[in-house]
Amino acid sequence: MDIFRIEGPVRLSGSVRVNSSKNASLPIMAAALLGPGKSVLQGVPHLSDISVCEQLLGQLGCKISREADDELCIDSTVVDHPVGEYDIVRKMRASICILGPLLARCGRVEVSMPGGCAIGDRPVDLHIKGLKALGARVHLKNGYIIAEAPNGLQGSDIFMGGPFGSTVLGTANVLMAATLAKGKTTIESAACEPEIADLANCLNRMGAKITGVGSPRLIIEGVKQLSPVRYRVVPDRIEAGTFMVAAAITESELRLEHCRLNDMMAVVDRLRNIGVTVDAAEDGCVVSRQGPIKPADITTQPYPGFPTDLQAQFMALLALAEGNSVVIEKIFPDRFMHVAELNRMAANLRKEGPAVIVAGVKQLIAAPVMASDLRASAALVLAGLAAEGMTTINRVYHIDRGYERIEERLNPLGAKIKREDV
Ligand code: EPZ
Repeated sequence: MDIFRIEGPVRLSGSVRVNSSKNASLPIMAAALLGPGKSVLQGVPHLSDISVCEQLLGQLGCKISREADDELCIDSTVVDHPVGEYDIVRKMRASICILGPLLARCGRVEVSMPGGCAIGDRPVDLHIKGLKALGARVHLKNGYIIAEAPNGLQGSDIFMGGPFGSTVLGTANVLMAATLAKGKTTIESAACEPEIADLANCLNRMGAKITGVGSPRLIIEGVKQLSPVRYRVVPDRIEAGTFMVAAAITESELRLEHCRLNDMMAVVDRLRNIGVTVDAAEDGCVVSRQGPIKPADITTQPYPGFPTDLQAQFMALLALAEGNSVVIEKIFPDRFMHVAELNRMAANLRKEGPAVIVAGVKQLIAAPVMASDLRASAALVLAGLAAEGMTTINRVYHIDRGYERIEERLNPLGAKIKREDV
């Protein structure tokens, strides 16, 4: 099992190219099921979550290959086993996003319930509600969701809001299914995340008729069938935000390439509030910090609010602020696995329900810590860059799920991260 040994504190400098988005790639890979034939997705990163999705699509009957380094080919001509097995779904909850496209294409699909994970429960009631509204019969059996629409799906008006606001993959599932439904579908309270806009743009390139892209109201005119596509996935705003914090937490200047500041207004707003300079540059930005880290309050919300996937990384930064901050997690209230680990590194964090009081300290101290969910693990790497001494991070496989060899991206900038197989 791999561990990281991270020597700190370090200063970083130079430029780093942001990968294409994992969270846009996964639903877009599923969308390839809707256009029988060979689709080519460009820029899809080499991540373990992407490999799991490739395995899943292969099990359904697709042929998967990487032709050029950044071109993922999905041949969905044959889909003869519309079943998302538990063994794969339990490894990656996002596997649930095959539900909508398979139901629309095959008329019947079985997908294992995703179950919970380190960040909390991962319910799919809104996914099911949306597919039922399109006329599907859905029931649960032996831990599997079984959805049937033998005579096809029927367009409808669907409210997709839940107790925590919109649902990203729930919107993806219903959106993909609606592209082949008879008639018109309106999805109200749709997720507005850039990854969903990217999925909608890709579907339109496949022949779908979707309007309102990027807004909370998506309108879909059903069509008979979609075609395969050649499509480049958007930059990963969460990876970009992680690198921005790397610059801020090490009091460095970094240039980020292939990143869209327009997708990150809430993140840039908080960084500037904290005293970090963010200047737009060609195809990206320059991020730097001189002077103190100012305390700031952060509340995670659906897009365009502050993204929950950057909450842990910003907590690591605020742990070194000159004063107290409050971080409120409103999307996944249990998403605080990083709090105890950061406290092992001499942070002063106190959990109060869905909030954490972050009392800034002068210095973080290296310690052995445990990675848990993907983004909490990234926060520990960032803390290790700033901490005094050698930080050891166990269970690095969590980080590899969402960051492509992060040590090979940070070390050329001046980080000292060693990956060891122990
Ligand atoms: C997506 O997960 C992302 N994953 C997550 O990123 C991200 O944290 C999340 O959206 C929120 O932005 C991918 O895109 C692959 P949700 P998703 O449905 O779609 C509740 C990462 O680190 N809910 O938007 O599964 C749910 O419990 C990952 O890259 C219901 O109540 O999240 C949560 O509280 C982690 N019923 C809230 O909605 C449902 O049917 C938002 O969840 C579905 C969700």
